[in-house]
Amino acid sequence: MKSILFLTLVAIGFLSLQTGTPPALSGASGAPTSVADTVKTDPETGLAVDNNLALVRTHCTGCHSTKLIRQNRFTRDGWKQKIRWMQRTQKLWDLGEAEPAVLDYLTKYYGPDDKPFDGRRLPLRTDRWHAMN
Ligand code: HEC
Repeated sequence: MKSILFLTLVAIGFLSLQTGTPPALSGASGAPTSVADTVKTDPETGLAVDNNLALVRTHCTGCHSTKLIRQNRFTRDGWKQKIRWMQRTQKLWDLGEAEPAVLDYLTKYYGPDDKPFDGRRLPLRTDRWHAMN
């Protein structure tokens, strides 16, 4: 009799664990993105999927997390200056013929899409929402 009670309790406990599991968060790959939801992101790098992604992977993912890219917003000229800075101080190589395509990509997905309004700061960006049950 005792063992039946025990098994029943175990079963109830198990069932409540099952139903109590929160739904998987989208973006569970752990790669927060700030890119608009309509843009597909590469699960490995968290970067926006695009024809130029391969180039960007080649030139921009060897030294640091792509988070440095994803969390920034610069104009084309701003990105160019960052590249020049890394070339001057961080041993980044000459991107050669790839540079315009890399800049196209960076400006398209990580450009200053939100313009400051009325001199106020930009809205806070939320990289990850938590499920509310
Ligand atoms: C040769 C190594 C190397 C490569 C390749 C590289 N970076 Fe960097 N980058 C660095 C280093 C080192 C830093 C400074 C990291 C830190 O501050 O922790 C940095 C910082 C940055 C930052 C932050 C700059 C800031 O002002 O905070 C951005 C954005 C960035 N890199 C983008 C890129 C992009 C885009 C590419 C591809 C074109 C790239 N990186 C390729 C070495 C590299």
